[in-house]
Amino acid sequence: MTVPVPRPAAPTPARDPSPVREVIRAEHVWKTYRTGKVEFTALKDVSLTIRRGEFTAIMGPSGSGKSTFMNILGCLDNLDEGMYQLNGQDVSRISGNDLSLIRNQEIGFVFQAYNLLPRLSLLENVELPMVYADVPRRERRERSLDALDQVGLRSWAEHRPTELSGGQRQRAAIARAVVNQPALILADEPTGNLDTASSQEIMKLFLEVNARGGTIVLITHEADIAAYAGRVVRFLDGRIVSDVDRRGDVGMEGPHAV
Ligand SMILES: Nc1ncnc2c1ncn2[C@@H]1O[C@H](COP(=O)(O)OP(=O)(O)O)[C@@H](O)[C@H]1O
Ligand SMILES: [Mg+2]
Repeated sequence: MTVPVPRPAAPTPARDPSPVREVIRAEHVWKTYRTGKVEFTALKDVSLTIRRGEFTAIMGPSGSGKSTFMNILGCLDNLDEGMYQLNGQDVSRISGNDLSLIRNQEIGFVFQAYNLLPRLSLLENVELPMVYADVPRRERRERSLDALDQVGLRSWAEHRPTELSGGQRQRAAIARAVVNQPALILADEPTGNLDTASSQEIMKLFLEVNARGGTIVLITHEADIAAYAGRVVRFLDGRIVSDVDRRGDVGMEGPHAV
């Protein structure tokens, strides 16, 4: 009988980047908010499919349901009716802790206000998603440095967010969003607090992330920001009213296309 020889742990293999072609499949999604006796239906029969590698901008006036939809896509909130499949898994009826686990594994978030932890260095901020994912310490450090390198911030690794400009903070937030190689990157008004030059820098960074295969959904109300995306989906009064892909391979969806 052979005695098993302990071997050093194999490096964590990169997650298969293409288990399914559709990262998002949302069908007939409805969402109603209830405050006391007041009801407001924020999403009315929304269907949207997004394939791996797409860069999609979601536009629409204030109150049209963009953030509500984003919260559902991001597993931050549940839908009332309809179906939502994320990366091949039906998450429509999952909630609580289980939903948090899926969120941490599958999604990288970028917010308007950066949401970096002020007491942590950039390196530690970028490591956080990997802490939750139980990545070993040394690998965390290496991957965090790599991610910071990709956004041009390697030399700032030991600094705290407060020492950085808004544009630099958002670059660090993008490093944090991509470090776990999530199936989906969700950005809600990521350039909302930035000047024009920094906004352009951030959008070029999103283009690079997309060129490396990242699937991005970005909310914006600015047309020049949306123009960086290959596909633009417009919301109005809780419905998708247009869906335009520059490559022409995704048509309008739903009966409300204009
Ligand atoms: N938690 C909530 N409770 C009640 N109403 C809400 C809530 N969140 C959003 N709404 C309402 O739903 C509508 C859509 O909101 P939202 O999805 O945030 O729109 P957008 O992001 O396009 O500005 C708005 O009229 C808003 O007032
Ligand atoms: Mg919003």
